[in-house]
Amino acid sequence: MTSTAAASTTVPATGAPSGDPPPASGRAGFLAAGDTPFWLRVPEFRDRRTIDTGSALILLRPDDCAAVLRDARFTQWNMAQVERNPQIDPRFVERRRQAFLSMEGLDHLRLRRLAMVALTPAAMNAQRARMRAVMDRLIDPVIGAGRMDAVKDVLVHYPLPVICAVLGVPDEDIPFFARTAEDWVRWMWGGPAAVPAALAAHDAMDAYMTGLIARRAQALGDDVISGLIRAELEGDRLTREEVIHTAASLIVPGLETTYSTLGSGLYLFTQHPEQWALLARDPSLIPSAVEEILRFAPVGPTLERIANEDAQVNGLHIARDTHVVLALASVNRDPELFPDPDRFDVTRTPQRGHMTFGGGRHLCLGMHMARAELQEGLGCLVRRLARIELDGPVTWSAPLGFQGPRALPVRFTARA
Ligand code: HEM
Repeated sequence: MTSTAAASTTVPATGAPSGDPPPASGRAGFLAAGDTPFWLRVPEFRDRRTIDTGSALILLRPDDCAAVLRDARFTQWNMAQVERNPQIDPRFVERRRQAFLSMEGLDHLRLRRLAMVALTPAAMNAQRARMRAVMDRLIDPVIGAGRMDAVKDVLVHYPLPVICAVLGVPDEDIPFFARTAEDWVRWMWGGPAAVPAALAAHDAMDAYMTGLIARRAQALGDDVISGLIRAELEGDRLTREEVIHTAASLIVPGLETTYSTLGSGLYLFTQHPEQWALLARDPSLIPSAVEEILRFAPVGPTLERIANEDAQVNGLHIARDTHVVLALASVNRDPELFPDPDRFDVTRTPQRGHMTFGGGRHLCLGMHMARAELQEGLGCLVRRLARIELDGPVTWSAPLGFQGPRALPVRFTARA
């Protein structure tokens, strides 16, 4: 996804955690309290179950977060704000009700089950060569220089050509998607003022997909859009409108999430060069390295829900209308799930997984694609770059959106 966050913060090349406690001013205050990503500050909150900021209840423990994600009384906070705001164009509210994240109930489950037919691990494995080709193409022009801004020169350009290749969108339409994706998400952090641009982006994406899907239906291929058109479960199929909305929903969520995760991973490897050397010696560790990056440095630091009625969650009373914030980064450092949780270790094989892809009925629909893409991207970087080290100050995204480096200058030796 593309960032709507205007400001960035710079930290020294060592990226030392700030240690500031959160001020009592809601989710924003909690996340913005330091000048580094929340995942670098997680140990400050160890031993806390909740933080009540006055305007939000932050949950820090795995079992509480998992229970809220499974509980139908809790729905998306962002969507509730849009639905309750009379200034917002009702057309936008209606369009967002067609998006996976805002849908609930049986319609949502049916749509997910059908879409999953086109997004299985096997379907994504068939796309791995395309993913490798994109990353190799991006590394080729910088490999000779021995230094690069890993985010600006390479990583930020990786997800969009990959998702377009996987969906079967022609390369010449990539600039259209880059523009549209940026406006598509603005409403989430930009409030009502950002809605007109977001609505125009939804309209533009729907119009594009309508044309593409009509053409694709004439000649199905091995891409995901063909998979969505073909998908069938017990005689049920996606309508043409559902294929359009589903395809449109798959472009945006995998952009900023993916390059930020790879960027955070590369940053972590500059701090732990022995782990990079381990990967080079044994590439079979790439999948567990990707899981460790996702665990240690979750790109979405929190998920947000609203309690639609009074609820008891594992004995915790949560009043109706409470803004509930699930701190995924804290969940991922739970010492009972992950022994020695603050150690970054690519050989880790946890019994239970991290929560970076969420959980319950909104569990990331693109997670098999994300995993394949992260594994292939990291695999190419490991194969081609030896001894990466920081080559200047790291700049991080602003705290309220997705979290990861926005400038990551590195020096490296090219592998023969
Ligand atoms: C590192 C990469 C990614 C991360 C960390 C990530 C994380 C997440 C999370 C946490 C959610 C749940 C949000 C919530 O419950 O409020 C989610 C939902 C979703 N993600 Fe991802 N995602 C990633 C990549 C992708 C990709 C590549 C795609 C598309 C191909 C994708 C498509 C979706 C969709 C459609 C949903 C909504 C599912 C639903 O509500 O039923 N994501 N993602």
